[in-house]
Amino acid sequence: MLFTDVIRTKRDGGALSDEQIQFFVDGLADESIPAEQVSALAMAVVLNSMTFDEAAKLTLAMASSGTVLRWQDLQLKGPVVDKHSTGGVGDKVSFMLAPIAAACGCHVPMISGRGLGHTGGTTDKAEAIPGYNTAPDFPTFRQVVKDVGCAIIGQTADLAPADRRLYAIRDVTATVESVPLITASILSKKIAAGLEALVMDVKVGTGAFMKTPERARKLAESIIATAAMAELKTHVLITDMNEVLGRTAGNALEIAEAVRYLQNDEREARLDTVVIGLCAEMLIAAGLETDRATAEQRCHDAVTSGRAAEIFGRMVAALGGPTDFMESSSKYLAVAPVVRPVHAAGYLRSIDTRGVGNAIIELGGGRHRVGEALDLSVGFSDFASIGTMLDAETPLAIVHAASEGDAVQAEKLLLDACEVGEDVPAVTPVIAEIIPGTA
Ligand code: URA
Repeated sequence: MLFTDVIRTKRDGGALSDEQIQFFVDGLADESIPAEQVSALAMAVVLNSMTFDEAAKLTLAMASSGTVLRWQDLQLKGPVVDKHSTGGVGDKVSFMLAPIAAACGCHVPMISGRGLGHTGGTTDKAEAIPGYNTAPDFPTFRQVVKDVGCAIIGQTADLAPADRRLYAIRDVTATVESVPLITASILSKKIAAGLEALVMDVKVGTGAFMKTPERARKLAESIIATAAMAELKTHVLITDMNEVLGRTAGNALEIAEAVRYLQNDEREARLDTVVIGLCAEMLIAAGLETDRATAEQRCHDAVTSGRAAEIFGRMVAALGGPTDFMESSSKYLAVAPVVRPVHAAGYLRSIDTRGVGNAIIELGGGRHRVGEALDLSVGFSDFASIGTMLDAETPLAIVHAASEGDAVQAEKLLLDACEVGEDVPAVTPVIAEIIPGTA
């Protein structure tokens, strides 16, 4: 089979056959199809989409392009359940949610991604913790999930390798925004992880890949239907991404915020609602709770009791990070040499959150090219939420940069991305919709 014929079929709006999809997935995994042809097909899918059957076939083929994990032999005491986000800016939810869910009796084998387009990646953020191994061997991964209750790692070479390569190419070729490609990318990893249940955080808004509620709902429906076909019980929350989630955006800065949250020192309201809302849904999807209010209370208690913080510290140590990370995180996280506030005057009315993500890429915190090394120290902290009155005392954000020149450029990009005015803006709820799955 010639791969140019596969590209041509999709370019001209046709449906790919099962054989063509399998050929594509095999060529991704063994690298026999070069990056330029992969990106041409990805762009054709972005432009002409895929039928449900094509997307389902792509999902299953990518899921079985490497090892498929099984957990039964470990005789775990709780359900194997996970959460995945479609990607946002400042989305550090996984670092809080995984240990909270573990403290509530779940086992969470979380296989996360690197930065994608303008969005940050959980794997990159985890690597801000010195020594933390995001690519352990499977026996280590399984043991940490068993003993600690959760393990957040990156995609290893063995797990859904076809998605691993496609993901890295989509990151730098403007080919992320596609319902079938996002569905296949996320679910291939989750099916390969051998989960009993999954909760999806489908982001909507200026910092999401789905900009409108209609598009977000379409993606949610695609994920639920494809997961049901693979017998993976999946619930979805559609959550707001019209502003940075929490107070920080940038790899090490987000880890620091996650630590403060777990230590119950600073729980920014919108971030807290998303973390607790998703985690409560995990307990419901996993069959541990039936009532939402009870599930939410159980998640809150896991934070205030310190159990989630203790589990996070144990996970970090078990994956090679410092044994005293929770007590001494500031000693370990990289600090940018230039730190200064960005001021504006008036109400913060709206944010082009993609612009904020792009500013972080320009600071060196995200990639322009496949495999590029990141500066994990850079980004924004103290980010104001929509509706805040900005003045000389209250900055829009604090920029963390590698140089004065980078700080000036980031300040300009940030101000361009934010609308500030005299009228108080309407504030949208952070959880737009909860969709219980069908499987
Ligand atoms: N997360 C993924 O793993 N893949 C996507 O395509 C988008 C978000």
